[in-house]
Amino acid sequence: MTRPAKPESVLRDESRQFAMLVNSVTDYAVYMLDPTGVIQTWNPGGQRIKGYVAADVVGTNFSRFYLPEEAEIGLPERNLRTAAAEGRYIGEGWRLRQDGTRFRASVVIDPIWEDGELMGFAKITRDITERHEAQEQLLQAQRDLLQAQKMEAIGKFTLGLAHDFNNLLTIVVNCLDLISMRVKDGAVAKLIDTAQRAAERGALLTRQLLTFGKGQTLVPEAVDLAAMMAECEALLRRSAGAAIALTVEIPRGLPTLSLDKAQLEAAVLNLVCNSRDAMPKGGTITITASARLTRDPTLPNAAKSPYVCLSVQDDGTGIEVDQQVRVFEPFFTTKPIGRGSGLGLSQVFGFTAQSGGFTELKSEPGKGTCVSLCFPAPEH
Ligand SMILES: Nc1ncnc2c1ncn2[C@@H]1O[C@H](COP(=O)(O)OP(=O)(O)OP(=O)(O)O)[C@@H](O)[C@H]1O
Ligand SMILES: [Mg+2]
Repeated sequence: MTRPAKPESVLRDESRQFAMLVNSVTDYAVYMLDPTGVIQTWNPGGQRIKGYVAADVVGTNFSRFYLPEEAEIGLPERNLRTAAAEGRYIGEGWRLRQDGTRFRASVVIDPIWEDGELMGFAKITRDITERHEAQEQLLQAQRDLLQAQKMEAIGKFTLGLAHDFNNLLTIVVNCLDLISMRVKDGAVAKLIDTAQRAAERGALLTRQLLTFGKGQTLVPEAVDLAAMMAECEALLRRSAGAAIALTVEIPRGLPTLSLDKAQLEAAVLNLVCNSRDAMPKGGTITITASARLTRDPTLPNAAKSPYVCLSVQDDGTGIEVDQQVRVFEPFFTTKPIGRGSGLGLSQVFGFTAQSGGFTELKSEPGKGTCVSLCFPAPEH
């Protein structure tokens, strides 16, 4: 007859088994905290994920793994309180490894009670950085695709409208020309003149809309960016005004591009005017160009290929993040009536796209904006 095992030996066995289990887990950091968050135990998973060995961390507060700004506002303590009050804390967040790098952590904290007294917490952390990054990339790709589809739809709509208005305005302008030849009377001639100027302004707007809808008839010619920018530097300087320091630094030897020069000049002028408007108290505009191996963000599956990018950078107000996706839409403007029609960046967007390239916007509120026109470099 076998005697029942002594309760202590069962316990010893169980705790040994438990220790073996925890110590063989390397994919999860499994450790215990005292009620104030001081680390009591450590396992190989903790070492693998966070880089620390047990001697580094046991006896210190687990808040050391949090980002300093989150530790400062008391997030570690709050998570412990949640676990104690609600029976469990489950969350996701950025944590720090020993080498200072960040990782995305999936965290579970369970309170340990004994006879109604809080003894501490069991904490399990998993490194989900890769999964998180994959999810972020997927979300970004979906957002890019949606944005591209939206711009395509607005472009089609705009193109249809612009074509019709162009035809109508051509008739109006021609008729006004014919009338003005016959009417020499002073007062009526003045009215005709006003109507002609309004019709011309309308024609200019429709041309910009045509460009946005990629319906402009482009007349490509060989463009050497350095030479072209040297030609229009004086005009850009005048447009920027005396309060702004404009620097043009185009390296020599960039590939010659095949582009509509008039449209390119209009695009650069639009960008310089935007930068000027974003710096009412003055500042700097830097125009640069570079050869880049990159891909069109609207074609995420395309392989990287050579582009030449012309960038206009300023240190002005920058653009609010929620507005950054909208600035290329026709008629989107934050300027008062009469100051902006919201067609400048639409022209830039349509022109680069119709030329086979793309526009890149980088802007930080309070710091400045950089818009790059990227054109495919010709094959050799
Ligand atoms: N460099 C910049 N810095 C800060 N905000 C900018 C800059 N460029 C554009 N923006 C923002 O984007 C909006 C749209 O620009 P866009 O050039 O299309 O139109 P606009 O300048 O308002 O009018 P238009 O160019 O037709 O005169 C601007 O109203 C402004 O809010
Ligand atoms: Mg503008």
